[in-house]
Amino acid sequence: MKQRYNKLAAQFYDLGKKTQDVKFYYNYAKKIEGEVLEVGCGTGRVATYLAQRGIPVTGLDNSQHTIDQSKIKCRKARCKNSLVFIKADAKNFKLNKKFKLIIMPFRVFQCFLTIKDQRAVLKNIKKHLAKDGKLIFDVYYPNPKILNDFSGKENVVGIFPHNKQKILKTYINNKIDQKKQITTTEIRYYRKGKTNNILLAKNTIKMKYFYKKEMQDLLKSEKFKIEKIYSDFVSKKFKPGKEMIFVCKKS
Ligand SMILES: C[S@@+](CC[C@H](N)C(=O)[O-])C[C@H]1O[C@@H](n2cnc3c(N)ncnc32)[C@H](O)[C@@H]1O
Repeated sequence: MKQRYNKLAAQFYDLGKKTQDVKFYYNYAKKIEGEVLEVGCGTGRVATYLAQRGIPVTGLDNSQHTIDQSKIKCRKARCKNSLVFIKADAKNFKLNKKFKLIIMPFRVFQCFLTIKDQRAVLKNIKKHLAKDGKLIFDVYYPNPKILNDFSGKENVVGIFPHNKQKILKTYINNKIDQKKQITTTEIRYYRKGKTNNILLAKNTIKMKYFYKKEMQDLLKSEKFKIEKIYSDFVSKKFKPGKEMIFVCKKS
């Protein structure tokens, strides 16, 4: 199975990530009594935050490299007892339990490029969702300005401290397939030096982008009822141009 992150890129995955989304997911998680399932948990950015605050979490990902990073983070945060990591595919994992909250933070759903895969993931999530349970996930709002910047320009995300080094993170939008709504982006990590930068890792990521109506139709056809759509993790209103955060139940 193809993994999305190589070993080095998985180490740098968290650099430059904001934390507003983590708090948003925590606010939902603390209201339920029971375990949270995070599908596509990556390096445990969200799962560890929840577990550190006493919420039991199962984190599932199909990448062994990111799960290895999650385990390191979890050991450091001393939350081993509240966290279980499982290497499995979102399309066909089988856990013999149901969850009151299933989350897919930071655009996990955009990893599923075909309608067949998107439906398989939603169907499988539904099987693992308790009767009144919620599915919450975010995808980006397709911003035409960003989508049309395929000039090959290397854009700087920022410079971040990592294990006593300075890491420069950049991205290049390489390709867009407007018919299939898929973008190809290369993410690069450099060790920042005084005179030059040394490329340490790079990762090419394909992402599906969804329009709001399309996402609404897909959720409806997979028998999810949308309770709320937000466009950011703080103000909780919907305004085109930012994120699309869906809070759903089984219908
Ligand atoms: C953008 S990252 C998000 C990670 C994490 N949720 C966060 O907020 O930091 C997407 C994650 O989805 C995982 N993923 C992609 N396809 C998957 C699949 N078919 N099954 C399970 N996980 C998958 C990737 O390995 C990656 O860790």
